Amino acid sequence: MRKKIIAGNWKMNKLEADIQTWIADFHQYFTGEPKGIRIAIFPPFTGLGSLRKGLPHYVEVGAQNVSEHLEGAYTGEISATMIADSGANAVLIGHSERRQYHHENNLLLHRKLSIAVQGGLTPYYCVGESQAERQAGDAEHVIRTQLREGMIGLSLSEAEQIVLAYEPVWAIGTGLTASKEDVQKMHHFIRQEVAGLFGINVAENMPILYGGSVTGATAPELLNCPDVDGVLVGGASLKLETFAPIINAGVEA
Ligand code: 13P
Repeated sequence: MRKKIIAGNWKMNKLEADIQTWIADFHQYFTGEPKGIRIAIFPPFTGLGSLRKGLPHYVEVGAQNVSEHLEGAYTGEISATMIADSGANAVLIGHSERRQYHHENNLLLHRKLSIAVQGGLTPYYCVGESQAERQAGDAEHVIRTQLREGMIGLSLSEAEQIVLAYEPVWAIGTGLTASKEDVQKMHHFIRQEVAGLFGINVAENMPILYGGSVTGATAPELLNCPDVDGVLVGGASLKLETFAPIINAGVEA
């Protein structure tokens, strides 16, 4: 059984004081563990330690990027072992903002996926097509290429660690959510692709999250799609006022 995962990507937001406020709010909203779901928060690197210390153990904490190198002379980079050492257990890989602004390609992301798993982290591998690609009818082709080039060559035991996130670029931060029909269709396609790469068992167990302008209003119908195993939330995860209803939608789905 795939548990629903409610994940928050804070992107490049929040100073220490804001993080402490968020932690205090979380404890106010959730006095006990929300049942039957996983919660994961992805702060900037600088917030990893504070979040790990301040949040209950059942909340997973992850980084938003990882170096493709193990260690050494790579000024400005953060390794998988450093992320794990901060108490975090996960990492976003291939978010569209990394692909777009930092020119991360599938080949590089393949190395990052592999190194994340070796470092004991759960990689959340993000895929998604642009508006132009969707309009040209290329959405499935783009997703297939991102999946194949990113994951091909990983061992079965590496692939089993992966969480996928489908985030159509045109839906991120725009207020445009993909329709639940489009999301279900793409998630089903993604699961078939994973089955083609790693077999039906890995595909059936792999969580596939949707991301792109998710709110408390849209989360319930998305989370009720059979192939949607959770949501990756940007803007609405920054405050508990908007994030708590999404967590609750996960519990109820
Ligand atoms: P928004 O929820 O702000 O659209 O961001 C989605 C996202 O990029 C999560 O990784």
